[in-house]
Amino acid sequence: MLAYTVYSESGGVGKTTTASNLAHAHAQNGYRTLVIDLDPQEASISYIFGVDDDRDDGHADNLVRHLIGRGKDSFEGLIREDTGIENLDVIPAHNMLSGLDNSMLRAKETEEQMHPDDDFEWVREQRLDQLLRENGIPEQYDAIICDPQASEGQGLYNAVYVTRTVLLPVELSGKGALSINGLESLVDGLETELEMDVGVLGVLPVGYADTTGQSRHLKELQEDLEYEVPAIFRERESLMQEMWDARATAYEVVEEAYKNGEGGQRRVPDREHETLEKYDELAEDIQEAFEA
Ligand SMILES: Nc1ncnc2c1ncn2[C@@H]1O[C@H](COP(=O)(O)OP(=O)(O)OP(=O)(O)O)[C@@H](O)[C@H]1O
Ligand SMILES: [Mg+2]
Repeated sequence: MLAYTVYSESGGVGKTTTASNLAHAHAQNGYRTLVIDLDPQEASISYIFGVDDDRDDGHADNLVRHLIGRGKDSFEGLIREDTGIENLDVIPAHNMLSGLDNSMLRAKETEEQMHPDDDFEWVREQRLDQLLRENGIPEQYDAIICDPQASEGQGLYNAVYVTRTVLLPVELSGKGALSINGLESLVDGLETELEMDVGVLGVLPVGYADTTGQSRHLKELQEDLEYEVPAIFRERESLMQEMWDARATAYEVVEEAYKNGEGGQRRVPDREHETLEKYDELAEDIQEAFEA
């Protein structure tokens, strides 16, 4: 089983872009892939895959209900297969995720108070993992990718507890570079919080432009950090923008552009093919890392 969480402490660095394209790449490689969206924001990976239609229906069954032991229907019923991508399913986000920490704290208090055993501990960080196991999910999928929000909390903890591995996108421009120095302590913090080892697939510069400042930051990153830099994703604003406009992965955006053919909506520059090849290569490297 291949599993990882795409995480960064700062927002807007390309987590969702990275997670959706890598998920598509794994699925194309024949991996039965499950994406778990733990980000309460509207611009989340469920939006890209077009499965966020129930997110503001307060009555809908959703992951948060299951995490606090109040699921309405079966857990499997949460899984959306209608992503339009073969081998790729999604457990979508719901607006209730914005209150996840509070809901889980209340559930913990209730569960522990009501339990006949005084020492019973309801471990919040392990709930998603329990749910997946109870429902035989690890047996049904070859890859699990989690996309939590850009801040610490139960969404992140549950994601990392399940995947035990993280991929860390970073922005190399000025402000983004500051948080890079904090990556090791971020991972240490997660290990302490979850009482387990957390594997790091690598640090992934996203939106890299060849400016003097950015190449200096890249050099520092490669020299000073103990983590690998498995790939570098260059500045591709129009392609990535189009993903959000078309609610599609970069692969689908490029494919659509082809379908539109001559005089179609957008032409596909060579650099965008290179970007897709980069995702292919990174996905394969990650697959190999898990097979090893
Ligand atoms: N390689 C790239 N070049 C240029 N822009 C990019 C690149 N990758 C992503 N972006 C853009 O950066 C913005 C943020 O991307 P994305 O939503 O993936 O980040 P995020 O880390 O998931 O954000 P959030 O913290 O809000 O969840 C988007 O507008 C996206 O189109
Ligand atoms: Mg995101």
